[in-house]
Parts: sequence; C-alpha cells; structure tokens
Amino acid sequence: MENFAIYNPVKLHFGEGVTNKIGEITAEYGKKVLLVTGQGSAKASGAWDDVMDPLKEAGLELIEFSGIKSNPIIEDVDKAAALAKEKKVDVIVALGGGSVIDSAKIIALAARYDGAAWDIMEEKYKPTEALPLIAVLTLAATGTEMNPYAVVQNNCKQVKKGYGNKLIYPRHSFLDPSFTLTVSRDYTAYGVVDLIAHSLEAWFGQGDASLTDRFTAAIIREAMKYGPELLDDPKNYDLRARIMFAATCALNGMTVFGKKYQDWGVHAIGHCLSVVYDVPHGASLSIAYPAWLKVQKDRIPKRIQELGTAIFETNSVDDIIYKTEYLFKGLGSPVSLKEAGIDISDTQEREKLKKVMVKNKVNGLVHNLDEKDYDKLLELMG
Ligand code: NZQ
Ligand code: ZN
Repeated sequence: MENFAIYNPVKLHFGEGVTNKIGEITAEYGKKVLLVTGQGSAKASGAWDDVMDPLKEAGLELIEFSGIKSNPIIEDVDKAAALAKEKKVDVIVALGGGSVIDSAKIIALAARYDGAAWDIMEEKYKPTEALPLIAVLTLAATGTEMNPYAVVQNNCKQVKKGYGNKLIYPRHSFLDPSFTLTVSRDYTAYGVVDLIAHSLEAWFGQGDASLTDRFTAAIIREAMKYGPELLDDPKNYDLRARIMFAATCALNGMTVFGKKYQDWGVHAIGHCLSVVYDVPHGASLSIAYPAWLKVQKDRIPKRIQELGTAIFETNSVDDIIYKTEYLFKGLGSPVSLKEAGIDISDTQEREKLKKVMVKNKVNGLVHNLDEKDYDKLLELMG
C-alpha cells in the first residue's frame, strides 16, 4: 500500500427533501447569491422550486446565470465570473449536472482573479481563494459533488482539461434523488457508464490496496445490478438513489485510498471525442474503454484478469474485454464512434482526431500511450 491522507470537507445531504435546509445553510456564507444553472432542465425536473423557495425564504438576493452547456465551455465561465465580480456576490449555488457544478467551481476561483479563467485551468495562475460553493446535483454521474475537480472545454484551443484544487470542494452538496427522475434514458445510461469508468480508472491506477479494490469492485457491481434495472424503471426513486450514491462514491477519494494514482488515460481519450464531436461524456467513455483495454491487454493481463475475477466471474482477458463492451452496450451507450453516428473511416477525419489527441497530450498517469497507440485506438474505436 502507498502512504495516504484522507481529506474530504464536503458536507453531503442525501435524500428526498434535503434542499429544505438550503436557505439557512447558504445564508451562513452571505446575502448575495450567484445561481448557476444549465439549459432548462432544472425547471423541468422540479428542482428549481425546491431550491428557489428556501433561498428566497432566507431573504437572499439571487443573481442568475443560466445556459451552461453540457461539455461546458470556458467562455461561459468567464461571463459568469464577470457577473459575480460586478454584483459582488458572496456565495455560488450551482443547480444542475456535472457541467453546471464544474463550471461553478471555476467561476468560484475566477471571481477572485482579474485575468482569464483559462489561466487557472492551465495553472498559469495559482488561486489562493475562492467564493464558497453550494452544489445541488440533478444528474448522477461525475462525482463532482464530492470532489475538488472540474473539467472545462476550450473550443478555440480544442482542449478539454481537468483541474483540481482543494479550494473548490463544495462546502455543501445536496443530493435529492427525486431531482434525477426526469433525466433522459440516454443521460441516465451515460451516468452509469461514467461511474463505472471512474471505478475502472481507479482499478487501473497505481498501488496495491486490496480493501480499496474491494470498494471499487463493489461500486461497479452496484452499477451493473441497478443500472439496467433503473433503465427499465426510470421513475423508481429507490433505484435513482442507489445509482446516485454509487456515482458519488466512484469519485470522492475512496477508490484511491492506499493507491497513488488513478490512470485517467481513457478519460483523456474521451475528452478529445467531446472536443471534436461534442460526444456526451459518458458515451465517449463507453467508446474509448473497450479500445483501451484491447491496446493494454498484452501489457497488463494480470490486472485485467483481477478485474474479471472481481466483477465478471471469469479470468479470460478476451472474455473480460467482451463483457465490458457488452455491459456498456447493454446500457444503451455506444461502443464505437460509428454507433455514435461519427464516421472516421476517412483518413483526413482520422488525422484530425489524432491531431487533437496529440494536442491534448492523451496519456494515462500509470499506463503510457504513444502516437502508435493513438493509431490503434482510432482504428479500434472507429
Ligand atoms: O443543461 P440542462 O438543461 O441542465 O440539461 C442537462 C444536459 O442536457 C441534462 N440534465 C441535467 N439534470 C437533469 C437533466 N435533464 C433532465 N432532468 C435532470 N434532472 O443532462 C444533460 C447533461 O448534463 P451534464 O451536466 O453535461 O452531464 P454530466 O453530469 O454527465 O456532466 C458531464 C461533465 O462533467 C465532466 C465531463 O467531462 C463533462 O464535461 N466530468 C467531471 C468530473 C469531475 N468534476 O469530477 C469527472 C468526470 O469524469 C467528468 O469528466
Ligand atoms: Zn468521467
């Protein structure tokens, strides 16, 4: 086992009706609130009233910034940070999925900085303070509600980047599974894929920590059991709750206790698909994972076999890769670019994607990928 420290300061409120306390809790951080939302689902899901009513009852002044897009872009972060500065807000409430909460995390830092938000993402500027952030999650997938990471896209540079800073842990996160009852079939499936992918990035990380591996396998098993049940019964609160909790646990630190790193190579590939084709995050991972496993199978057969023993009751590497692909396919998430409606059979198209992979320095923290691997991956993902 590697040495490790456990630190997670997020106070997570989980269950039906938990946002009834959001007014008094937000008021502890000040009077002026920047409310960040996406493109309309907050109202459709019913979360809007359950958040707005208590905020208003607490006498808070609300300044709204809406329109954050899925695969969020840095321009919106800059605009929202400018609004936060102009209105001198005290605290941010983010209401939405991972894209909204991730944007709000960088807004919280950029609101305390005079330059461009992308400087923060590129670590050209090292923030020392942030506005406090309260998150209300409406989609189970990313784990952003209980971690210090944010992922934002810069379309001008054709880069999608992750960023981590302990200043951007939400102070409180509210997870009411009933808010996720309206999530579409596709995004429900992408969320399940994402949480499995986070667990796999940990599984293929560095370090030998058997108890942590058991946590990780248990999270994947939870998703394998309840993901398909939820897709058959999307209005089932209990199933929504199980998947929401699993998604939080898949990226809140517990899958890396005693390990040094997660790998993140597959996420790096997926981010390129989102930059070039705006592929939803979870779909990009179900396309990339089987291809990555095929590239790695002769390099790390033992680790793949251990995964098979832990979750698939087989230790045949080919079987395990097939079962992983079948799992994603069974959820209804694409396992090739073709299935996502993207044709890269043309050499030029493939080169375009490869260039973006080079620019984004696609690599794992543990398992290296070089340009020859990019070619193989592109062929396998096609
Ligand atoms: O924009 P609105 O109208 O809100 O609609 C969203 C969006 O169209 C909709 N939605 C959200 N809640 C809903 C709902 N629709 C109906 N009912 C609800 N209750 O769902 C669509 C997708 O939302 P989005 O926030 O983009 O999805 P997700 O939560 O999967 O977030 C994806 C982003 O998170 C990043 C990804 O790269 C991607 O940019 N990630 C962040 C991580 C982190 N911070 O730790 C780790 C992850 O690996 C991931 O990379
Ligand atoms: Zn992810």
